[in-house]
Amino acid sequence: MSQRGICIAPSILAADFSRLAEELESIELGGADWVHVDVMDGRFVPNITIGPLIVEAVRRVTSLPLDVHLMIVEPERYVEDFVRAGAACVGIHVEACPHLHRSVAQIREAGARACVALNPGTPVQAVETVLADVDQVLVMTVNPGFGGQKFIESTLTKVETLRAWVDSRGLDVRIEVDGGIGSETLGRAAAAGADVFVAGTAIFGAEDRAAAIAELRASAKG
Ligand code: DX5
Ligand code: ZN
Repeated sequence: MSQRGICIAPSILAADFSRLAEELESIELGGADWVHVDVMDGRFVPNITIGPLIVEAVRRVTSLPLDVHLMIVEPERYVEDFVRAGAACVGIHVEACPHLHRSVAQIREAGARACVALNPGTPVQAVETVLADVDQVLVMTVNPGFGGQKFIESTLTKVETLRAWVDSRGLDVRIEVDGGIGSETLGRAAAAGADVFVAGTAIFGAEDRAAAIAELRASAKG
């Protein structure tokens, strides 16, 4: 995965699953950096989406790194399965992990980048003790479960705090935002310090994926 500059990670939650290979091709040709895969279990969030089987199929039809966001209870039960299926980065929710430090180590030992995710109602302090042990923090900018929701403004202060911690401690940790990201909200999240931007509706809802990705990328520069 590229470690410099900003990353645009289209979320396939908003793609047409009956034409997934073509959808993935359109974002790869359109200049996406990563593919964001939203895994939901109907327990951690009130929706069910996809499992390792589909991740493995996605892996076969794109060369982009897969950023797999686990919105599931007991994620430690499935980390190895998702890494084997092709996840380059695995995100787990702090709210689902009583042994967060152990779960983060488990992801790295399995061979993937480790990401910890925070729901909008969870204070940023919940990740502070593991910040030096992760590769990425995902600040949810909507309540997880569905695409197409409205960006929650109060999450930006968490991005600012994380950026200050990461920079002042000299850490190599990416800060990802996910939910309600379009040109305008992306610009503000970038100004607050985010450098990975997940977008579902804003990319797959657009006819021209390359133009949508280019517009988002341009918004990060303010
Ligand atoms: C929400 C998911 C997001 C979602 C983003 O639970 O984690 O990745 O698909 O979709 P948009 O960009 O439509 O808000
Ligand atoms: Zn997501």
